[in-house]
Amino acid sequence: VVFNAPKERKHILEVLFNGLRRLEYRGYDSAGISIDYEPSVGAKSSGGLKDLAISHPPLVFRQSGKIEKLVTTVYQEVDETDLDLELSFLNHVGIAHTRWATHGPPSPRNSHPQSSGEGNEFLVVHNGIITNYLVLKETLLRHGFIFESDTDTEVIPKLAKFVYDKLSEDTKKTHQEGYEGVNLHQVVMEVMRQLEGAYALIFKSPHYPNELVACKRGSPLLIGIKDLGDEVKTRDGFVSAQDSGRPKEIFLASDASALVEHTKRVMIIEDDEVVHVKDGSVSIFKFDPTRSSGGLRRPASIQRALSTLDMEVEQIKKGNYDHYMQKEIHEQPESLTTTLRGRLIRGDDFKAKSVLLGGLKDHLRTIRRSRRVLFIGCGTSYHAALATRALLEELSGVPVTMEIASDLLDRQGPIYREDTAVFVSQSGETADTLQALEYAKSHGALCVGITNTVGSAISRGTDCGVHINAGCEIGVASTKAYTSQIAVMTMLALALGEDTISTRARREAIIDDLLELPNMVKEVLQLDEEMKELAKELMDEQSLLLFGRGYNYATALEGALKVKEVALMHSEGILAGEMKHGPLALVDETLPIIVIATRDGTCSKQQSVIQQLQARKGRLIVICSKGDAATVCPNGASHVIEVPQLQDCIQPIINIIPLQLLAYHLTVLRGFNVDQPRNLAKSVTTE
Ligand code: G6P
Repeated sequence: VVFNAPKERKHILEVLFNGLRRLEYRGYDSAGISIDYEPSVGAKSSGGLKDLAISHPPLVFRQSGKIEKLVTTVYQEVDETDLDLELSFLNHVGIAHTRWATHGPPSPRNSHPQSSGEGNEFLVVHNGIITNYLVLKETLLRHGFIFESDTDTEVIPKLAKFVYDKLSEDTKKTHQEGYEGVNLHQVVMEVMRQLEGAYALIFKSPHYPNELVACKRGSPLLIGIKDLGDEVKTRDGFVSAQDSGRPKEIFLASDASALVEHTKRVMIIEDDEVVHVKDGSVSIFKFDPTRSSGGLRRPASIQRALSTLDMEVEQIKKGNYDHYMQKEIHEQPESLTTTLRGRLIRGDDFKAKSVLLGGLKDHLRTIRRSRRVLFIGCGTSYHAALATRALLEELSGVPVTMEIASDLLDRQGPIYREDTAVFVSQSGETADTLQALEYAKSHGALCVGITNTVGSAISRGTDCGVHINAGCEIGVASTKAYTSQIAVMTMLALALGEDTISTRARREAIIDDLLELPNMVKEVLQLDEEMKELAKELMDEQSLLLFGRGYNYATALEGALKVKEVALMHSEGILAGEMKHGPLALVDETLPIIVIATRDGTCSKQQSVIQQLQARKGRLIVICSKGDAATVCPNGASHVIEVPQLQDCIQPIINIIPLQLLAYHLTVLRGFNVDQPRNLAKSVTTE
């Protein structure tokens, strides 16, 4: 929303389009936008240069496919109709959205904004899922509403229209004199009362020109404020600069990357809050589901201080790289340095080397005394937790169980007050993980968050935690967050083991190697060309197996996930100990198999796996520690990839890098989209 800034319409279009471009990385299949209609120069004389939006329904453009397709369509329409880019509103209000299909295939009619119907009286963009939409739809159908899309979202604007009509009618009846009408936030609160599920919503309506109302439950939402003049003044819960008459821009977005180029001054909106942007001011209200609005009583507004985003625009740009995934793989020496910064204490003659995790220091005792630790996450984050499970058990003596968030919820698995539940999530917003957090909280467990996103729902909802500080990760396939997550959970294990004298030497050796880690990662990245050559050999294969065990079972799973999610090649990570119980049947001369056999307590078992695979003429690619090729595979292999060796427990950080590079090159060679793999989203905010 732009206030008091007479700029051409192009400005608001570009702000919205750019916002969508910045969110592209999260994955989407269609996009849409709505701006206010303004008659052309000819019509201007009748209305004058002021806010004309009220008399005209807002325009809506929707497209499936890429954002640039939407951009072209909008500008074409603008050229072809009587819309005029040169004219200016004093105030501009627009909304835009990228959709990732849940209900109904990608198509213009299923894209957002969704509309209340003719005249676009209410327009809504929605992130999340409405679980009771069928019931609502039936009711609205009975009231004569006609539905045009297959989405769950469409019930929202229609419900808003229904509520608006009803509240207006009631109000007119009871307030014949001095009738002031219904506020947009009252309409929204009434709508919220009916909705079940997860959502962040923005409402726009020609009944309320220059106003927006947003609300959320379960899906992320933040406000950015760019005051082009005076300092923001806070008065009665309002952040206002309207008094100064200075231009001002207010942004609402689901992700900080959409607004960081405009402003770093943000407010995070909590669940069940309603934001009303009006006359250059932002007010936030708490929605109370138990209290009916009674039509029109205005709830008390909430005071909220602005916080400053710790993010640079450069972080969300590709720089000299072709793809974000490539950039993020190659910046791991730096991201790991930031993850470790200030957290490793070198010690001296009197004091052991140790780790310092500020966000956990008051809770370590409780965690050590837990009956068990549960690691909970999805996808890559789950793999990172799996990679550190053994070390945490070794150093803390506490049993660790692994939980894929959705599976824990499906089973309603037992969780006790004496448990510590560790939630691992790059985005901090994954719906399954968030729900598992609510579940663990309700069972009284101590909840620890490990996320990359300051201010995310998981950082806010847990009792304590650690930020991995890997910097913004844009590629849908997680790479640098994975290695930083392992580094953080390794430090967690070290911190938990700190009281045990018998493990001191082991802990110090790990700390020494963590200090070396960024340099070792630099070294292993030199395998880039070698992995590209290997990718050329493998690019036409149907399938790829990865065998790992011990610390590197996670490496096999994560390597396989990378290959399948971006290179769209079937790939499976297999626990080598299970080889004889099934997978061996697949082995022949053609199927490529990667065996991870770096130096650790399971290496000799991996050597025997290699021999058994060779006996079946398996097509082997072996990853081993530098200098070990002859011992690990004395009969040779079609490829041997040698990597630098560190302490066994942090070796997964090194070992995954050649596999990340392989997945990257396979994707480029096979001609697929590296950063936005088919059907996948970066942050899965629906169940
Ligand atoms: C999605 C992404 C994966 C990610 C997973 C968990 O599936 O495509 O790359 O690992 O979500 O995300 P989180 O943000 O919770 O780590």
